[in-house]
Amino acid sequence: MMRTATIGSLLALHVAVQASPNLPFVINTWGGPFTTATDAAYLSLRNSTASALDAVQVGCSTCEKNQCDGSVGFGGSPDENCETTLDAMIMDGTTMKSGSVAGLRRIKDAIAVARHVLEYTTHTLLAGDLATQFAVSNGFPLSNLTTAEQAKRCAAWREDNCQPNYRINVSPDPKSSCGPYIGIALNSSSPAYKRALTPDASQTSHDTISMITIHSSGTMAAGTSTNGATWKVPGRVGDGPITGSGSYVDGDVGGCGATGDGDIMMRFLPCYQAVENLRQGMSPKDAAEDVVKRILRKYPDGSYGIVVVDKHGQHGGAGSGWTFTYAFRGGSMNATEVVSVPPLTENRRGAKIVYIKLARAFAQQRRGEGER
Ligand SMILES: *[C@@H]1O[C@H](CO)[C@@H](O)[C@H](O)[C@H]1NC(C)=O
Ligand SMILES: *[C@@H]1O[C@H](CO)[C@@H](O)[C@H](O)[C@H]1NC(C)=O
Ligand SMILES: *[C@@H]1O[C@H](CO)[C@@H](O)[C@H](O)[C@H]1NC(C)=O
Ligand SMILES: *[C@@H]1O[C@H](CO)[C@@H](O)[C@H](O)[C@H]1NC(C)=O
Repeated sequence: MMRTATIGSLLALHVAVQASPNLPFVINTWGGPFTTATDAAYLSLRNSTASALDAVQVGCSTCEKNQCDGSVGFGGSPDENCETTLDAMIMDGTTMKSGSVAGLRRIKDAIAVARHVLEYTTHTLLAGDLATQFAVSNGFPLSNLTTAEQAKRCAAWREDNCQPNYRINVSPDPKSSCGPYIGIALNSSSPAYKRALTPDASQTSHDTISMITIHSSGTMAAGTSTNGATWKVPGRVGDGPITGSGSYVDGDVGGCGATGDGDIMMRFLPCYQAVENLRQGMSPKDAAEDVVKRILRKYPDGSYGIVVVDKHGQHGGAGSGWTFTYAFRGGSMNATEVVSVPPLTENRRGAKIVYIKLARAFAQQRRGEGER
């Protein structure tokens, strides 16, 4: 009995659930400047007739306008041509309908255009110049997404031989030269090929807002907005606009938001997986940790952050490669609270630590029984 209790309490600590402050509820990736989005979304749910979907749009738009951290909205994360392009997605947890734009050019309001895809088409994803054309035909103004500051930064990057960049297996050597590049014979034992499995730490410039909202009535929505990775190959689309990757929500279960090395993360559909984990009965924290560990098994050196919330507003997060933070506000909270999530160790080491703790608990228990 006692032994079970000891192990049980140990596990309880491990699976600690962050209690819900009640509905309505808003949660999103990152603290700091991203809490302006949390507040805006929360206040729209509390003060008005805004739906869960409206609140996601209000929250993500706030970050697009404020250029949260330079990684959302105009004027950030230029590609090799110094152009900012935007990726965004919005999803309705009741109908499971989602709308996205990818590689959106010359339009600032990415999440609002994504909402138009959701509301006014039966499609899920529009991309590139033709997404811009769709936006213009819906009344969105064209604008220059490049700020003077970004143009200067881009000139300095070129001056520095276009370092860092995302090219591999090309000539001239992308580690010392600008393009144009041409592909060379694929060689899976070359250092360049291996580097593609271990993202360059200097390239971790890819924060994203991913948000999940729960209306007082219990309906849910989710969304993501980002300007992607700095110095990306023009045309690159990240995880943000991919349903199940950047974010995901099923109002019967819960929702998830992701941030990090999108090129890697989208190979795992981490938010789809996290919501399925909730459906299988995992706590939000365990659901998040499980998906981060799945990615770490193949790509131990990237930066990842996952926030998960169930339909009641219980929440948890997991990350690796950085100290991930997420923000939430719900019920009658006066202010947004930020949760700091220490990075997970690589899976095998993590498993070993849990094993050692369990072994110690057993040993202690045995000693206790002996004395009795
Ligand atoms: C929402 O209501 C609170 C008080 O209930 C008020 O302080 C706040 O300014 C309102 N916000 C908006 C956006 O209306
Ligand atoms: C956009 O603005 C930047 C910075 O002011 C400028 O360098 C660039 O030429 C502009 N692009 C266009 C197409 O006007
Ligand atoms: C592949 O790369 C390795 C390491 O750089 C090199 O030793 C080998 O000769 C290359 N193989 C081919 C076929 O180019
Ligand atoms: C919110 O602020 C008011 C006034 O400062 C205080 O009375 C109340 O307890 C606060 N509520 C919460 C949930 O912190």
